[in-house]
Amino acid sequence: MAVQRTISIIKPDAVAKNVIGAIYNRFETTGLKIVAAKMLHLSREQAEGFYAEHKERPFFKALVDFMTSGPVMVQVLEGENAVLKNREIMGATNPAQALAGTLRADYAASIDENAVHGSDSEESAAREIAYFFTETEVCARTR
Ligand code: TYD
Ligand code: MG
Repeated sequence: MAVQRTISIIKPDAVAKNVIGAIYNRFETTGLKIVAAKMLHLSREQAEGFYAEHKERPFFKALVDFMTSGPVMVQVLEGENAVLKNREIMGATNPAQALAGTLRADYAASIDENAVHGSDSEESAAREIAYFFTETEVCARTR
């Protein structure tokens, strides 16, 4: 399996819970390396653009309200099979269905405030990485 990169976002609810470090620890103990990171308070335009694929969904406005309600921590994760590995660490979209030990089971309160985002494919990952980071902001980890 090839080394991949993926986007992770620690959402405003999890930043407010002060669990950035706990979530980073989960990435690192699973073998995912953080190769870029920034804290941002998203504008509505940024959040709407990021979630454009959902713009016709009934939850879209609430999602944008939530994602702009406080700072988020955005990171690029790198590792073997990183896209799927991050989705596995995250757990199901609805925390009520997330497996024990996943980030959403541990830190999410509801489907609409669910602690973390992760790219769902290599194609989404490439688009989402470019949405938040320039090429030079993503670091090569040679050791
Ligand atoms: P989605 O891409 O389906 O989930 P995931 O984050 O697991 O890739 O949806 C994007 C976000 O939209 C989701 O994390 C939370 C929000 N959302 C709701 O608020 N209600 C819903 O019914 C769904 C499906 C998503
Ligand atoms: Mg998704």
